[in-house]
Amino acid sequence: MPETPNLDFQGTTPYEDYVQASVLTHLQHPLSDDPGEMVFLVTTQVMELWFTVIVHEWDTAVQAVREDDLPVAMAALKRSAYELEALNASWTPLARLTPGQFNAYRGALGEGSGFQSAMYRRLEFLLGEKSVSLLVPHRGAPAEYAALEKALHEPSLYDEVLRLLSRRGHAVPAAVLDRDPTLCHEAHPDVERIWQEIYAAVDQDTDLVRLGEALTDVAELVWRWRNDHLVATRRAMGAKTGTGGSAGVAWLERRVAKNVFPELWTARSHV
Ligand code: HEM
Repeated sequence: MPETPNLDFQGTTPYEDYVQASVLTHLQHPLSDDPGEMVFLVTTQVMELWFTVIVHEWDTAVQAVREDDLPVAMAALKRSAYELEALNASWTPLARLTPGQFNAYRGALGEGSGFQSAMYRRLEFLLGEKSVSLLVPHRGAPAEYAALEKALHEPSLYDEVLRLLSRRGHAVPAAVLDRDPTLCHEAHPDVERIWQEIYAAVDQDTDLVRLGEALTDVAELVWRWRNDHLVATRRAMGAKTGTGGSAGVAWLERRVAKNVFPELWTARSHV
């Protein structure tokens, strides 16, 4: 057995062929001369990669829930929770920007804003945060537009879970099961009652409690991402308007105030 790694390759290394590091590490093109912009750009790119992985996991979970394959769905949801923790940890380099540091390259960003992230939008659509108007910014990018339009019309992760609860004998109202998938999920008292019953069971080791907890982990970690984003924004630019044209912090505060999978939170008051 040789004691050192193999050094001899005919062409590019198998590592390069798999990871494509030479592509990945040549996608950093800052728009200003400020040395602090590089980490802003790379953090944004790293987050885009995590969004991509998490969308992949939730697509897997949606399909598995639809097929009543809870082990596969749970495995994907649990992986996504660890990935959300890694995503959230990537706020660290940007969490303490002063307005002066951010201003050094903010102007160079023009009208660019994370609000225009197509992958983040797919992630939100999978959570049930739907709106046809959110497709508009992507009209100029046919592939992204088509992927988003498809996601808009498909049931969200939560829609599929509620359909599963119905198949398991829970009385999910027809208005919820047959809802227009292109609109936001609105909290329903009957759904809250179903989660309350599931959580009130003496046996807390059922697959539906475990599913509820996996979804609650996801909901909490998405809320944490939104909140970390809000606080980083508040530190970096106070109450100024966003580069994307919104009211900035005031707009982000409204996003943070929204609960992901709302009945999973409100049901707890009644257990
Ligand atoms: C400290 C740096 C950052 C500041 C000051 C900031 C600021 C803002 C503001 C003000 C908005 C509201 C829309 C607008 O008017 O632009 C926004 C939205 C957004 N930003 Fe950031 N942002 C920062 C970093 C990031 C990073 C690193 C990402 C990673 C991709 C990101 C992703 C997003 C997303 C996805 C939205 C839309 C949120 C939604 O639709 O609910 N932001 N940002």
